[in-house]
Amino acid sequence: MSAMLDARASVVPERLLDAMRYSLMAGGKRIRPALLLECYHVCGGVDHALPMPAMLAIECIHTYSLIHDDLPCMDDDDLRRGKATCHRRFDEATAVLAADALQTLAFELLAVADIDSELRLELIRKLALAAGCQGMVGGQMMDMQSEQDPGIDMLMVERIHLHKTGALLCWCCEAGAILAGASAAQLEACSRYGKAVGLLFQIADDILDATASSEALGKSAGKDAAQSKATYVSVLGLVQARELAGEMLELALSACAELGKGGNHLNRLAQYMMERGR
Ligand code: IPE
Ligand code: IPE
Ligand code: MG
Ligand code: MG
Ligand code: MG
Repeated sequence: MSAMLDARASVVPERLLDAMRYSLMAGGKRIRPALLLECYHVCGGVDHALPMPAMLAIECIHTYSLIHDDLPCMDDDDLRRGKATCHRRFDEATAVLAADALQTLAFELLAVADIDSELRLELIRKLALAAGCQGMVGGQMMDMQSEQDPGIDMLMVERIHLHKTGALLCWCCEAGAILAGASAAQLEACSRYGKAVGLLFQIADDILDATASSEALGKSAGKDAAQSKATYVSVLGLVQARELAGEMLELALSACAELGKGGNHLNRLAQYMMERGR
């Protein structure tokens, strides 16, 4: 991942590249590329090089979304991945530009990837939908608006979570399947798995925000309540939020079962999302 940035050193302003590298290499869990790779394997993909550009691309998109999420005009966070947030370490303008650059880099990586042109176009189209106004960006808008809205219900929280987090996780699962040349049934099972773990992942994030320490998380805890965010914890309380996470886990596991023996790794990834401490 670092090499991909180093290769651009002669054509990108140094401070911009430093900020991109700083956030990309700060120590994220890399859950999204792991999901993509496991879905690729479970659908019969064997060439290890083939999914790599898509795995890099999704980390670029995800890291861009975090840099923007942390800006003072959004969640206003100082800590990310155990380090100062990008705008704190550099400055706001540099952080905005580093995130912009990571977003477009993701599409460049896919556009030049050595993948059959029809599949490549399908991945790019689906990523644009998942990351943009109908996906993650739309979800972030709903998330910001929810801060002013005391009447938010569970359906609305689900809608926010499916957009702001679920769409990108689901893209990973579908992209892995598409790259492997999955059957319609395999693609559908991966997609269903992706939706379930997408929700599970954000419910767990909301629970951790309310229960874990900033040291454990590597980001500031207790922010959702302080900013009156609409979360499953705020709408349902901790006990029911945990129950719902358990239901999402069951849905994910039943999709894994349909994917056959190779579904074990996906099974463990879903369990990890439920039990994770950061
Ligand atoms: C955090 O994602 C943002 C959410 C969508 C909840 P991760 O928990 O995957 O963050 P990193 O990549 O490990 O830092
Ligand atoms: C962010 O959700 C989801 C994104 C699209 C980045 P949160 O605001 O809950 O993520 P954290 O808790 O700051 O990582
Ligand atoms: Mg946020
Ligand atoms: Mg945030
Ligand atoms: Mg959060």
